[in-house]
Amino acid sequence: MAVPVRVPQSRKQSLDGPPVSYNADLERIEIELLLEGVYRHYGFDFRAYAYASIRRRLWKRVEAEGLSSVSELQARVLHEPDAMERLLLDLSVSVTSMFRDPKFYQVFREEVIPLLRTYPFIRIWHAGCSTGEEVYSTAIVLEEEGLLDRSRIYATDINDAVLQQARAGIFPLNRMQEYTDNYIRAGGKRSFSEYYTAKYDGALFSPSLTKNVVFSQHNLVTDRSFAEFNVIFCRNVLIYFDRSLQHRVHALFYESLVMFGVLALGSKESLRFSQYEACYEKLDAREKLYRKVR
Ligand SMILES: C[S@@+](CC[C@H](N)C(=O)[O-])C[C@H]1O[C@@H](n2cnc3c(N)ncnc32)[C@H](O)[C@@H]1O
Repeated sequence: MAVPVRVPQSRKQSLDGPPVSYNADLERIEIELLLEGVYRHYGFDFRAYAYASIRRRLWKRVEAEGLSSVSELQARVLHEPDAMERLLLDLSVSVTSMFRDPKFYQVFREEVIPLLRTYPFIRIWHAGCSTGEEVYSTAIVLEEEGLLDRSRIYATDINDAVLQQARAGIFPLNRMQEYTDNYIRAGGKRSFSEYYTAKYDGALFSPSLTKNVVFSQHNLVTDRSFAEFNVIFCRNVLIYFDRSLQHRVHALFYESLVMFGVLALGSKESLRFSQYEACYEKLDAREKLYRKVR
């Protein structure tokens, strides 16, 4: 009889994956059972996320919890909602930064802003916005281009904990130099420090930037479209999904964009192999900016 895949007692805590000698088929069964349980009990559907990445993150959590198998993690997560919250933080990678990929924002300013000027009212969706740095970056660009007052930004994420940080608008002070450099390289028109005030070790961003922002929980895997948008940002999220899930999300975005609306993906993502590739033209292929044309 096969036994659950276990980390041997002798192993160090700094593991970045499962034990060296293990049964890959059994491991996959344990992982699938855990993901199924999480979905059925909590409604978070990670079943079609990219396997290698999910596997690595689950083992990281197995170790952090002081456990020795994915099956043990499954039991803990199903019986202890706090453990589920910790796992959710691991599974939904929330790494982000302001004006991430500065060139992207420069091209956004040059290519997309002129299109947005033609609309009396602008709706933007940041899907998978994490702690909000991307949203504040867009709000700053819109403000400098005189478009913020006629924009409504919907900023969504699966993870409520990151949304709470986004709403608070306080970011680590020690990252402001990096963000200032990004802002300048992105074509920023003012002094970046105009947008925040330093408080202890945090930088509190001006609430005026988010007066037209709605932060809300939304799951790209299970939830539906909720409006029509002129721009959808979904950057550095689809890389964590498998092909079938990417297809589902592309269908959601296609339905949610107005004709001639713009889709912005992350630097490692593209519309290639998507069933909607032919429905978009490239505004800037390098910066992954696409426009819906049919
Ligand atoms: C790496 S961050 C990207 C943040 C930001 N878009 C950027 O590019 O800097 C990925 C975000 O996607 C969110 N995410 C993962 N799965 C999701 C899902 N099914 N629905 C909505 N958001 C999801 C995670 O919680 C995380 O905050």
